Amino acid sequence: MMQFIVILMAQIILTSCFQQSNSHTKDSAQVDSSEGVAFQLAFTTLNNECIYCHHHDHWSNYTREADWLTEDGLVIVGSAVDSLLVKRIHGCGGTSVGRQMPESPAEQLTDQECASITSWINSLEQ
Ligand code: HEC
Repeated sequence: MMQFIVILMAQIILTSCFQQSNSHTKDSAQVDSSEGVAFQLAFTTLNNECIYCHHHDHWSNYTREADWLTEDGLVIVGSAVDSLLVKRIHGCGGTSVGRQMPESPAEQLTDQECASITSWINSLEQ
């Protein structure tokens, strides 16, 4: 009997975890389709690697380029090395500030993912 209860509980816990991860995927933010390709690529990286931890910053609503041009300088038009977003990403360029992202235990960005963000920012014009 005890064994049965343990198995049942394990099943309930497992099922709820799976449901959570499913809803996580469904919630994933959709980029504004009127935006340019460079931003769409950068947004894909941000969506895959950053946004799930940054809900409190409402980054999932930052589906347009202009949303990232925040007062605290997340993105500085035309200059990836001066953008806080980039300075915070491990090994992505600029002078590192603060804790390097993505926070562990998440894996570091690949060079390609990093480039998707820096090329988008560098392509922006004032
Ligand atoms: C595993 C969770 C996690 C992931 C993934 C993650 N971050 Fe963070 N990030 C945090 C936490 C926690 C803080 C707040 C602590 C701090 O400021 O050092 C933070 C802070 C920041 C800040 C400073 C906050 C601000 O608004 O000034 C920036 C910028 C940032 N992260 C960028 C990124 C980027 C870009 C990525 C993806 C490449 C990323 N983060 C992925 C957890 C995460």
